[in-house]
Amino acid sequence: MKALILVGGFGTRLRPLTLSFPKPLVDFANKPMILHQMEALKEVGVTEVVLAINYRPEVMINFLKDFEDKLGITITCSQETEPLGTAGPLALARDKLADGSGEPFFVLNSDVISEYPFAELIEFHKSHGGEATIMVTKVDEPSKYGVVVMEEATGRVERFVEKPKIFVGNKINAGIYLLNPSVLDRIELRPTSIEKEVFPQIAADQKLHAMVLPGFWMDVGQPRDYITGLRLYLDSLRKKSAAKLASGAHVVGNVLVHESAKIGECCLIGPDVAIGPGCVVEDGVRLSRCTVMRGVRIKKHACISNSIIGWHSTVGQWARIENMTILGEDVHVCDEVYSNGGVVLPHKEIKSSILKPEIVM
Ligand code: GDD
Ligand code: MG
Repeated sequence: MKALILVGGFGTRLRPLTLSFPKPLVDFANKPMILHQMEALKEVGVTEVVLAINYRPEVMINFLKDFEDKLGITITCSQETEPLGTAGPLALARDKLADGSGEPFFVLNSDVISEYPFAELIEFHKSHGGEATIMVTKVDEPSKYGVVVMEEATGRVERFVEKPKIFVGNKINAGIYLLNPSVLDRIELRPTSIEKEVFPQIAADQKLHAMVLPGFWMDVGQPRDYITGLRLYLDSLRKKSAAKLASGAHVVGNVLVHESAKIGECCLIGPDVAIGPGCVVEDGVRLSRCTVMRGVRIKKHACISNSIIGWHSTVGQWARIENMTILGEDVHVCDEVYSNGGVVLPHKEIKSSILKPEIVM
């Protein structure tokens, strides 16, 4: 089987992290977001992944050679010369997706995290005989997403409304689809939205079906949701493979520590923390609800909560970082500095405290 992952978009809502890497390569739970998806696709027998790219292809391509070797699947890029939206890229990759086998193919948004129940999706798709299946999930704030109104008993979609202004329902498009090749005949090679132009049309023909996604789901394309997503991911990891989580007197709740990271004495870490490869956490550090990316050093007695520390940054001793502080790549926070919601661009040195949420350029 084949899959296409939509990896375009500038990822502006995840800046400053996306100033260093395209969104799909931003680490989530110690590996690039897109790797979570590719591993799950491989598990259900996908042998070729097409990446629909329109932004910084060179960075992507370098990384992907690595993944190709590790995963043993073919990864090809389909590069847009102008952003084609969420449907146009399918038309551009038409020859790769419709190989004459008639098999359905997967399409994924690159920023959604879940248990990726692809096997269940394949089974459901085969059972209804329609043209397309989308996975849906319930959320509290549906207006940020594509809302799906479906017939409960059969899953047939009656309406699809992208980012509705008035309430139509709380089941939303999870950004995970299985499509028959015939869907490609509905898409022209021009900037098009699958949500606004293609799904409503298939729904009107009564050939669009929805399946409620089992387990957790989160679009981690914004800092607050990213941190919530990590909590949900770690909860699910606890249920499925608890041995992957850290344990010990210094650990509270769910904590993921890369095997190459070093943790000092008398630290207190957790809940909901991910510490990436090569990190050094010195003595007496307190971490909760945060992500510490590859190569970071956290000096003695620093305290970090509800924040993301970008690649190769350093946090000085006795520093206090909290309230959705996002440090870009290679940021240096001096000793004893306080950050309350600072969003700090890559390669900066922070010498004085950031007292209220603001962007530091
Ligand atoms: N190749 C390519 N070209 N990809 C694109 C482009 C483009 O021009 N524009 C967006 N994408 C990719 C993004 O990288 C992302 O993976 C996906 O398409 C969806 O774009 P987002 O910008 O993340 O959309 P959203 O989060 O506002 O809404 C979408 O996702 C929701 C679920 O998270 C929609 O699909 C909603 O219906 C859905 O509920
Ligand atoms: Mg998104």
